[in-house]
Amino acid sequence: MTRGRVLVTGGAGYIGSHCVVELVNAGFTVAIADNLCNSSAVCIDRLRIITGKPDAISFHLVDVCDSEAFEREVFQKYSEPFVAAMHFASLKAVGESIAIPLKYYSNNLKSIFSLLELMEKYKCFKIVFSSSATVYGTASVPYTEESPAGIGITNPYGQTKFMIEQILKDFFASMVKSSNPWSISILRYFNPVGAHSSGLIGEDPMGIPNNLMPYIAQVSVGRLPFLKIYGKDYETCDGTGVRDYIHVVDLATGHLAALDHLVRCHPTLDVYNLGSGNGISVLQLLKAMEEACGHPLKYEFVDRRPGDLAVSYAKAEKAKIELGWETKKTVQDMCQDTWRWQSKNPKGFAS
Ligand code: NAD
Ligand code: WQD
Repeated sequence: MTRGRVLVTGGAGYIGSHCVVELVNAGFTVAIADNLCNSSAVCIDRLRIITGKPDAISFHLVDVCDSEAFEREVFQKYSEPFVAAMHFASLKAVGESIAIPLKYYSNNLKSIFSLLELMEKYKCFKIVFSSSATVYGTASVPYTEESPAGIGITNPYGQTKFMIEQILKDFFASMVKSSNPWSISILRYFNPVGAHSSGLIGEDPMGIPNNLMPYIAQVSVGRLPFLKIYGKDYETCDGTGVRDYIHVVDLATGHLAALDHLVRCHPTLDVYNLGSGNGISVLQLLKAMEEACGHPLKYEFVDRRPGDLAVSYAKAEKAKIELGWETKKTVQDMCQDTWRWQSKNPKGFAS
């Protein structure tokens, strides 16, 4: 017996695909809506292999900003309303968002408008939204859900996440309390890394990776010659930047916990940090990856990257108390699973 169908926008991407696995394992069927602008159809085949339930996953190649196509190709295809939507579809490269801001504002904002309008029309009232720790801007660490958000965000990508949080809050507040059908979960991810333990799916950035872990992973298989470490004079344990890395499978189980909460409690709008609560430096992560792959990894120090913070990590208690969720995987797990994925698939899904 299925627990119903969940709509997963951006489900062919890095985080969405890992959530699809957990949703299917938990007894849901899934409709993925993705235009593959930053992902591969091979990922869908792999999801069917990992779950062993190919019929539980349907894939719709569609731009979710194109409201007419989204309605025709996805919403009209199913007679029963979706149990919930998980909205991962977004452009996410910080540097690119500074270079081509309109593309980022357009894609990330149009997609939420299109999705919310269609959800309302087709009577699906539960949404889990992928936000980011980037909304904390220049607040002081550790970030709690009550820390001031939206101040000091240095790029259009981060602005879109903050704006969508505001849109969801205003939309929720506009409902008549006694008849509000909506339940909304805003999840602020810290730094997702790692891969599924099968080594069949993982992060596969197009072009040169912007983020640390995929960069290290590509150095580990010889696809890139060395890591450039941005800055060695931060006020941290070893001078390099500190982040709260979270295994992508822990992140995915966090989405399941958020979904369970939405099913139990409505109407509700909640914001949760999904992080481990621990800070790890660039050099510490590099060392853990050297242990996982079994060979030294070359690096050079270069100037700080503009816009980077010295330290970012979560206070993760709210999700633990209210969702009964906490991270289980260690930094070693993150590195071993990344190495398994990257060494089995040195060129990602194109391998
Ligand atoms: P990703 O690029 O791997 O996945 C996003 C998916 O959305 C891709 O498959 C892409 O093809 C699809 N997509 C984008 N625009 C679309 C559109 N208009 N129509 C249909 N599909 C579209 O990114 P990810 O790392 O899996 O991130 C998932 C979500 O989590 C994003 O919203 C991202 O902003 C957010 N997030 C990511 C991180 C991170 O470090 N990876 C951190 C915080 C938040
Ligand atoms: C981590 C640390 C770098 C690359 C970004 C976005 C954020 C979120 C996650 C979506 C920092 C250092 C990195 C490299 C390095 N995305 N680094 N060499 O900056 O915390 O967050 O991705 O919401 O919005 O801003 O992650 O992985 O880029 O960097 O030395 O080649 O690694 O300076 O200290 P960041 P990151």
